[in-house]
Amino acid sequence: MKFFYKKTVIISEILYLFTVILLFSSTGCKKDKRIYQDTGQPVENQIEELLSRMTLEEKVSMCHANTKFSSTGVPRLGIPSLAMSDGPHGVREEIKPHSWESAGWTNDSCSYFPTLTALAATWNVELAKQYGGALGQEARARNKDVILGPGINIIRTPICGRNFEYMSEDPFLIAEMVVPYIRGMQEQDVAACVKHYALNNQEVDRGVVDVQVDERALREIYLPGFEAAVKQGGVLTVMGAYNKYLGLYCCNNDYLLNKILKEEWGFKGAVISDWSATHNTVESANAGLDIEMGTDKDYNDFFFADPLIKAVRNGQVAEEVVNDKVRRILRVMFRTNVFGKRSKGSFNTPEHQQIALKVAEEAIVLLKNNNSFLPLNMEKLRSVAVIGDNATRVHASGGMSSGLKALYEVTPLLGLENLLDSRVKINYALGYKKTSQFTWDRGIIYHSDPAEETQLLQEAVAIAKKSDAAIIFAGLNHDFDTEMLDRPDMKLPYAQNKLIDVVYKVNPNTVVVLICGSPVEMDLWIDKAPAVLQAWYAGMEGGNAMARILFGEVNPSGKLPYTIPEKLADSPAHSIGEYPGEKFTVKYKEGLLVGYRFFDTNNIEPLYCFGHGLSYTRFEYSDLDLSGKTLSSDDSLHVSLKIKNTGNVDGAEVVQLYIHDGAASVFRPLKELKGFKKVFCRAGEEKKVIFTITKKYLTFYDINSSDWTAEPGMYGVLIGSSSRDIRLKNEFEYKDL
Ligand code: GLC
Repeated sequence: MKFFYKKTVIISEILYLFTVILLFSSTGCKKDKRIYQDTGQPVENQIEELLSRMTLEEKVSMCHANTKFSSTGVPRLGIPSLAMSDGPHGVREEIKPHSWESAGWTNDSCSYFPTLTALAATWNVELAKQYGGALGQEARARNKDVILGPGINIIRTPICGRNFEYMSEDPFLIAEMVVPYIRGMQEQDVAACVKHYALNNQEVDRGVVDVQVDERALREIYLPGFEAAVKQGGVLTVMGAYNKYLGLYCCNNDYLLNKILKEEWGFKGAVISDWSATHNTVESANAGLDIEMGTDKDYNDFFFADPLIKAVRNGQVAEEVVNDKVRRILRVMFRTNVFGKRSKGSFNTPEHQQIALKVAEEAIVLLKNNNSFLPLNMEKLRSVAVIGDNATRVHASGGMSSGLKALYEVTPLLGLENLLDSRVKINYALGYKKTSQFTWDRGIIYHSDPAEETQLLQEAVAIAKKSDAAIIFAGLNHDFDTEMLDRPDMKLPYAQNKLIDVVYKVNPNTVVVLICGSPVEMDLWIDKAPAVLQAWYAGMEGGNAMARILFGEVNPSGKLPYTIPEKLADSPAHSIGEYPGEKFTVKYKEGLLVGYRFFDTNNIEPLYCFGHGLSYTRFEYSDLDLSGKTLSSDDSLHVSLKIKNTGNVDGAEVVQLYIHDGAASVFRPLKELKGFKKVFCRAGEEKKVIFTITKKYLTFYDINSSDWTAEPGMYGVLIGSSSRDIRLKNEFEYKDL
């Protein structure tokens, strides 16, 4: 009995002890747990409280990856890893934690939106917001905290492999479209990651090339998109680029990261390195990099892992510098409600598919339409020849990091089949074949077969002969429009030029639809083709959008976000500047003269100019009126005009406002885009359009004062349907009070 009693006492004591420990640890956690949930206290206070509880090791751990696509949290304090995912036009399939291999999930096929050149080609800021919102919802549904996009590097050369992922050659258009995209996404509790900051305008030698560009071009051309993303978009993360700027890697470039981004622009979020773009510990830490991702080392050997702890311990990096990084990362978490009530998102919804369709429809640019050849009339047409590798090729998975496992992708042929009933017979032929292969080490290699090529041409001719009209789906694919590679030239690959020529010879009613994300040369056939469409990589609903445009269900309203030169040599990066540079240095000698700024200032005719895009209707511009003849530094000037749809189909026009500085004491491009409005008008409808101009729209970056400056004098207002189709002009005087 005694023994039994003793045993009971011991057990109860153990139980008591266990309870106390449990209570303490849970209480302890509870104390810490209190900061697990957003307490409603000011965020900065909660950040300070979290920080005060962290060891140096925990702080440093947050500044580097713990998997391919996440950075480390602090489980003890209830701080989760920060989960990231590509990319700019859809949520990438799940990757294994510590390799680039697919995780093999069966439920991560996503919505595939048109790529960003297409989004930019809509010139529709409302759509950009919807686009960002839908992508944010998809990211939330996949439990991602950060989407590694948008990519907004300036399209400096027509042959950069990643042009399809970017938006434009013009900083104003980029700024106007990237802000709503970011806001839309971040409203869904997902951080955008604007990239690649900065000057990553080519893929050749991207990991080492040193970009030399003058301060004005940096400020007026290459940075404004990023500045708007930070100041107006409130972007929560920025991705440091691979390349160097003026001799220093972007990820350890104090001028770009600390001076401009954080101090001048007031960026409060986190700078994330591109994958393997970090090259050192002390310089990068002190220069403003906050999270190191993708380095090809064990995580503890990352520059921002044990070496950073050591650097703090030996005084090379102040602990406060690490504290600032942790604050920024926690700020991203709080701003995306990681500790609070988060939106749950939605995945592959009809609404997202509708947004993809709408963006595709509004992105497609009608480049040429002689004698209103388009739209095709499905009442009259009895048969149509559908020709080309791009009629049936799906593109979603291509392009490297932005590649997607799309839920579906409607090809142009399928889109036509969806639209056309049995009244119109579709005759299909491959016409040309993708005989290229993208390789990491040898670039693009070809394995063409002349006999097969001849046979394909003959098949195409045969069906074109017997059809009322022919549609050739030509262009590129992600062997050419891809990360890691720039194209060798602007030419259409394979036998496409020959195909267009022979088909046109047997059937002049031939439309060319270009599926590509960057400019191509058309000189060999452009005079023959009665109609040409630029259709982009138009996402999962692209085929339906193309069919609906071709047969007039939708009136095209896209406008080019970049210039299409007659030939590559006309492009400023190739005629004035350097490309791809020598000995891993590239000099942007063209300075401000990027895109239309170059063609207009030097009066060189491009094939199709920036802002160009036709419609199935016509728009009349009239009644340009300025609210005054002068503008002073502290007020604004209203520019109004009327636009009338004088055709017989509803349509949309992008009214563009360019400013010419007639007073400049410094060199300035002939004109610069400073406003645009996409106006939808029913047939016969007239609408008033009003722009508001302030001093900001007149400024250039003055390197003497290191500030934006507007000089007094006369300024021209040019209202156009494109950068070269100027319909109305006026001028005003700017007076600097
Ligand atoms: C890539 C790209 C970047 C992408 C990242 C993660 O190299 O440059 O845009 O987000 O690595 O895949």
